[in-house]
Amino acid sequence: MMHRYLLEMLQCPACRNDLRFTIEEAHGDHIERADIRCPDCGAQYPVREGIGVFLTPDLTRHDLWEQVESGLSRYLRAHPDIEDRLLNSDPGTLAAADRFFRAMALEERGDYAAAAALEAQAGPRLYTEEYNAAVDSQMKYLCDRLAGHGGAAAAHGGPAGHGGPAADRPVVDLASGRCGLVERLARHLDRPIVASDFSLRVLRRNRRYLELVGLYDRVSLLAFDARRTPFRDGSISTLTTFAGLANIEHPGDLLRELRRITSGTFYAISCFYPPEDRVNRDAIETHGLDAFLFRDKALDLFERSGWRVEVVNVRRARALPTPRSVLLPEFGIDALPVAETTLEWCTLVAT
Ligand SMILES: C[S@@+](CC[C@H](N)C(=O)[O-])C[C@H]1O[C@@H](n2cnc3c(N)ncnc32)[C@H](O)[C@@H]1O
Repeated sequence: MMHRYLLEMLQCPACRNDLRFTIEEAHGDHIERADIRCPDCGAQYPVREGIGVFLTPDLTRHDLWEQVESGLSRYLRAHPDIEDRLLNSDPGTLAAADRFFRAMALEERGDYAAAAALEAQAGPRLYTEEYNAAVDSQMKYLCDRLAGHGGAAAAHGGPAGHGGPAADRPVVDLASGRCGLVERLARHLDRPIVASDFSLRVLRRNRRYLELVGLYDRVSLLAFDARRTPFRDGSISTLTTFAGLANIEHPGDLLRELRRITSGTFYAISCFYPPEDRVNRDAIETHGLDAFLFRDKALDLFERSGWRVEVVNVRRARALPTPRSVLLPEFGIDALPVAETTLEWCTLVAT
């Protein structure tokens, strides 16, 4: 849903002027349906099914969720024998990647509870134990720090620490995907959380999922492109992302846009590849994802965009290419790494 507190934080993402809000259906603080218009440039931004849609037509987008989910449905429709094996065999006999795709297919059929249970069990098997531990460590670190239990680190983080001016302000999460970080934050913090993504499909899925796990009341859902956000200057005191930066293609002035809207701290959970790892470096460059996957390059970009940045909670982890599906060999899970490597997981704390 979209919570009312957001209205004062928003402006037109296209021309940056004030917006006019016509709320058509609301339940208390929760806006379910509204028409939002920019009187200056005429752009319209609907709130439908509780999701505020602030996408502008000018940026090109390569929506992975749209492709994977609709591609999967299409493929299964065309191959009923594979669909039958994917959905009806004993999950214990399926490869880890196929269990993951079965969870996706169950979600598309609306069976969110079964999908969540299967994904919780299959998801960690797609990665090495060290990798899962390094990821978990970043999420835990960030939750503790935002809850004010981060010791010296939290004190250093200033506004985000317990009792500081940011303590009751919303946490805005970028490129939230399937809400991995959002779910952790919502379970650990009393603060309002905003999940965002440019994919409406993943946000609609998140609504259903968050309802299922009882967190929907606490989380606002906004569709926008991180490169052109609908937020006023300095309106965000805590901005977060988990592996979001590296997923944003053609980031352009992304970090300057995030600098504009953030008055407090931006926590970007990131992973870096060793620059000497040629095989993965070539693949990263081919995908055009090199801006945020190498430590020196990423830090330089932050500094050139007006941020002071610190690298904390560094955890190294062996990473392997995600396993291939047996039933759906043309569907991959993660594009990277393409060969075994050691990743440096960390949290970037930018102010
Ligand atoms: C795989 S998720 C990252 C993990 C996620 N943050 C989590 O906590 O589970 C990456 C997401 O970035 C989104 N994305 C990519 N480019 C974007 C952009 N320019 N603006 C907003 N979202 C974007 C994709 O749609 C995808 O859902």
